[in-house]
Amino acid sequence: ESTDDEKTAVHQLPAQVHGEVIFEHVQFSYKAGSPILRDVSLTAKPGQTIALVGPTGAGKTTIINLLTRFYEIDSGTITIDGEDIRLLDKENLRSRIGIVLQDAYLFSGTVRDNIRYGRLEATDQEIEEAAKLANAHSFIHKLLEGYDSILSADGSNLSQGQRQLLTIARAILANPSVLILDEATSSVDTRTEMHIQTAMKQLMQGRTSFVIAHRLSTIREADQILVIQSGEVVERGTHDELLQAGGFYHDLYQSQFNRVV
Ligand SMILES: Nc1ncnc2c1ncn2[C@@H]1O[C@H](COP(=O)(O)OP(=O)(O)OP(=O)(O)O)[C@@H](O)[C@H]1O
Ligand SMILES: [Mg+2]
Repeated sequence: ESTDDEKTAVHQLPAQVHGEVIFEHVQFSYKAGSPILRDVSLTAKPGQTIALVGPTGAGKTTIINLLTRFYEIDSGTITIDGEDIRLLDKENLRSRIGIVLQDAYLFSGTVRDNIRYGRLEATDQEIEEAAKLANAHSFIHKLLEGYDSILSADGSNLSQGQRQLLTIARAILANPSVLILDEATSSVDTRTEMHIQTAMKQLMQGRTSFVIAHRLSTIREADQILVIQSGEVVERGTHDELLQAGGFYHDLYQSQFNRVV
């Protein structure tokens, strides 16, 4: 009985978590009998950047979806600041994790309200500060109605890069200790690309960040690179360590990145 009670107990994380994230022997399958993640263990210390790299279908997005309990693991444990995430209230868990995905979620409403979505009680001034840190202020300022400009439901009256900057501003405003970022692969113009890069850096500062990384600069600067292949962490270390090791990462780097430095 007591174990049952423990399983259904719904814990809450405090408003500010340190952001230590630990996966221990995590196994997961979308469909019973077809394991996708076999035995994933990782430790992210507060503030660290963890880059996930590896071929398509390796399990990178899956790992990230488990952290927000979009899916439940089969065995093993995932903890945030020592709390087993299965014991946490899902809403509470998700409110502590910022997510910046390739396809920015924007709704029909003003630019201001779209940023405010990160923290509903934020003041107009806080919204502008977040936009400035996200390198979004200058383009917002140039819109006909500035922060009061209305976005269409799919954000189609902004460029893709601008949409990303807005979601970064939103995440900065939300101020989560743990971040999930899926770097865009699609190309935006060089100037916007630079804006996005510096904004992402700003956002990741002091937060535990899991990045599905496509940019070499992000990967290079990561505290840990996890190379995922067929649902397993096959290599881990810094860029220099992994290049030295001369394994899978080395080959990946040679084939994908050596021309883009
Ligand atoms: N919702 C799902 N249901 C069933 N299988 C899935 C589901 N999502 C992903 N998979 C499978 O799980 C495996 C890992 O997929 P995942 O999306 O995590 O890969 P990825 O490393 O993120 O790849 P990519 O680089 O292409 O984004 C793949 O074999 C994929 O087909
Ligand atoms: Mg993916």
